[in-house]
Amino acid sequence: MPEADREGERYALDQPQQTPGFYLKGSHQLDWGMKNRMARVFDPRSGRTVMLAIDHGYFQGPTTGLERIDLSIVPLLPSCDALFCTRGILRTVIPAQCQKPMVLRASGGPSILRDELSDEEIAMDMDDAVRLNAAGVGIQVFIGGEHETRSVHNMTRLVDAGLRAGVPVMGITAVGKAMVRDAKYFRLACRIIAELGAQYVKTYYVDDGFETITASCPVPIVMAGGKKLPELEALTMAYSAVQQGACGVDMGRNIFQSGAPQAMIEAVAAVVHKNLKPKQAFELFRSLKADAERGAANVAAE
Ligand code: 5RP
Repeated sequence: MPEADREGERYALDQPQQTPGFYLKGSHQLDWGMKNRMARVFDPRSGRTVMLAIDHGYFQGPTTGLERIDLSIVPLLPSCDALFCTRGILRTVIPAQCQKPMVLRASGGPSILRDELSDEEIAMDMDDAVRLNAAGVGIQVFIGGEHETRSVHNMTRLVDAGLRAGVPVMGITAVGKAMVRDAKYFRLACRIIAELGAQYVKTYYVDDGFETITASCPVPIVMAGGKKLPELEALTMAYSAVQQGACGVDMGRNIFQSGAPQAMIEAVAAVVHKNLKPKQAFELFRSLKADAERGAANVAAE
């Protein structure tokens, strides 16, 4: 029997983890405030989320597509389920009347000028997350990285603070350059993050065995976007991830670096919440993009 079949049996892919009394995996025994914050991020109708990740500035500065968040990202807010950003951008650029749930980047340290990105610390107090009415916080965990123990400890301290305040923690699998990005690695990293208390995990998609990563992780997984891909490929990746058990996406560059970010976020949302197939989602993207271009041409002609 091929290895993949044996793995399928061991992960019991045909028997989803039970979630008695609440719709999100592993969240049914959390306190009310924590559940309520989770329910703001993960749409109770689909059980999934489209988080828009724009936290990149915390180590990359004004990266491509995020030079002017007020112009490029604020107009997209109505189309996402939640925004993943830094507290600096939240306070300075995101309108306080915005009712979208905010998940705040809570780690930082090295910039892209350094080789070793795992040298992070907690970069925000839980008190401030509560003050900002955050729906959650996110932190990198570098399994196998040079500063693995510190990054795990950063996360567990944040989880302790989150449990005191009722604020969920999203643990993010940060992959060092030397690490192989395969299902074996991500199963290990996601499971460690969940075992040590994170309420959900952000991780990358892999073509082979992604369903074993979601099956062996007892909390919801959201798919990280990664580097910019052609739109059809990004939509296919998001579709495959949710069909294989991801509870949505936390995508950045594949949305804000698209030639048509508004069209792309709406196509991603159709994939995530309505199970739209990749080719149909791409058609939706193209028609929304064409509408937007026609609208812009008409404005220019007036
Ligand atoms: C890295 C992160 C990022 O800072 C960011 O959220 C990545 O988003 P994307 O890869 O979709 O551009 O969490 O792990």
